[in-house]
Amino acid sequence: MCGIVGYVGSRKAYPLLMEGLQRLEYRGYDSAGVALIEQGGIVVQKSAGKIAILTEKLKDCDFVATTGIAHTRWATHGEPNDINAHPHTGMTGKIAVVHNGIIENFAALKEVLKRQGHIFKTETDTEILAHLIEEYYEGNLLQAVRRALTQVEGTYGIAVISTDSPEVMVAARSGSPLVVGCGDGENFVASDVAALLRHTNRVVYLQDGELAEVTPGGFSITTIDDVVVSPHLQEISWSLDMIEKGGFDHFMLKEIFEQPDTLKNAMRGRLNFGEATARLNGLNLQYDELRHIRRIILTACGTSWHAALIGEYMIEEYARIPVEVEYASEFRYRSPIIHPGTVVFVISQSGETADTLAAMREAKRKGATCLGICNVVGSTIARESDGGVYIHAGPEIGVASTKAFTSQIMVLSLITILLSRMRNMSYEKGEELINAINTVPEQVRQVLALNDDIKAIAEKYHHKDNFLYLGRGVNFPVALEGALKLKEISYIHAEGYPAAEMKHGPIALIDENMPVVVLAPQDSVYSKITSNLQEIKARKGRIIAVATEGDVRIRELADEIIYLPRVHEFIVPVVATIPLQLMAYHMAVLRGCDVDQPRNLAKSVTVE
Ligand code: AGP
Repeated sequence: MCGIVGYVGSRKAYPLLMEGLQRLEYRGYDSAGVALIEQGGIVVQKSAGKIAILTEKLKDCDFVATTGIAHTRWATHGEPNDINAHPHTGMTGKIAVVHNGIIENFAALKEVLKRQGHIFKTETDTEILAHLIEEYYEGNLLQAVRRALTQVEGTYGIAVISTDSPEVMVAARSGSPLVVGCGDGENFVASDVAALLRHTNRVVYLQDGELAEVTPGGFSITTIDDVVVSPHLQEISWSLDMIEKGGFDHFMLKEIFEQPDTLKNAMRGRLNFGEATARLNGLNLQYDELRHIRRIILTACGTSWHAALIGEYMIEEYARIPVEVEYASEFRYRSPIIHPGTVVFVISQSGETADTLAAMREAKRKGATCLGICNVVGSTIARESDGGVYIHAGPEIGVASTKAFTSQIMVLSLITILLSRMRNMSYEKGEELINAINTVPEQVRQVLALNDDIKAIAEKYHHKDNFLYLGRGVNFPVALEGALKLKEISYIHAEGYPAAEMKHGPIALIDENMPVVVLAPQDSVYSKITSNLQEIKARKGRIIAVATEGDVRIRELADEIIYLPRVHEFIVPVVATIPLQLMAYHMAVLRGCDVDQPRNLAKSVTVE
């Protein structure tokens, strides 16, 4: 997630800004930059890579500026490189902007500005903000920013400075957090309290639709409609360590709870309600090419491979296109058969997994069209693919993947609808699925509210050494993912199985010491699942069921029940994953494991 730091005061701004950025490094980023009002002009210095590269580049500079803004970028539009790094300026070089968020209508705004003579230097959505503010600037920076933002659709947290008003910094928020830090004769703006806590613990959190005009002597807040807001001053008591994790004990738990927002980002601007389909321009395929896809291969590793399995169920059921799911590590050495009309989707959170990258290169070598489903913009897989869809989950710090997994499923759902609506899916069916997808963030929020109940279950079973996870149909891969989550962070042995496979071997393991987690929503195979539950119960197995709220029958069979809201079958995999993530998390914590950095694991396996 991007980081913003701004300063206006009497001290030299540069060291304060860089120290603030360093406090935000934990959030993950791919480039950094700073803009200073230095001796009447704006100095902008920025570079791809770590903050240390920037500070090394500027180590001999002695900036005297007392006003400045700085940024760490997590790329969403445009490669992570020097030119695309923030801050961005417009045509005159008198205004500099840093931005967190996604401007959905930036392409349209860019076209209008180009017709007005603006020349753009970067591929970013943010740069249009600098040009737009310039376009509206008539001597008052706050008013120019306000007018510019009324044109913007999407999310933003921004900080803006101008040479014409060297002691003024304007900040604005809609969908991306921003906080004003109140000092003595100096004030700060930041995307995260961690960046300014060393200097002040008195802060005002901007709300969506608010702008702040900040000077060394104070600040004022107004709404986008120019209504004055009385600021709500708060004193922060958190430690820095707590703040970096947003008040959660671990990054993994923070990322589990981010999912309502990250799922919203995965679908942002991609639900075409009018035509009951999805909008995925990044695929870089013409409609005709998409319509003539005859076979799909989904290849990935680990959790991403589980997402691929879910994609297989969805695409085959709705789009009626044959799908094969391949472990990337197997695919690359298997001399795969690639026919004309074969599209390979390469799924990878990091976009750097060695096996997955090699599998993509092998598929391309054999003539396949390769499309990436990645989280990291500009990652190797994203760059080398023929197109793709970013999941926009923000940096995933915890080694165990959580929010990236559910966003991968979300993107696969969108791909399913896009392809299906080009084939046999009716408008009504497309509308039904689009509407179901649109409810996902709220449904996930409801399941997250069960955290304490799930923790209570973890407390009863965390000392067990073996678990089975069972599911049928599209919930079989969910069972696999639940088992992997438990394995990799709590070191408890866990296996996922299709529920019907139990009788072909695993049932021999069932006894009173074997907890069995069963995905048992009231769906088309519910009656089959309840038979499996009876088989387990007959052998004294302990059953932890993930069921549908209102299901009374399950009480006769399960020892523990986690009730999910009654949701469309199409979105059950995303919703059903949440309790499994939380259960694995709590068991790992109860067992004293290093949840964010489990032993032997790496966040991105860039070796074979
Ligand atoms: C998931 O919890 C694991 N950390 C691991 O299986 C991961 O999913 C796998 O290494 C693939 O990573 P990628 O999505 O970045 O390619």
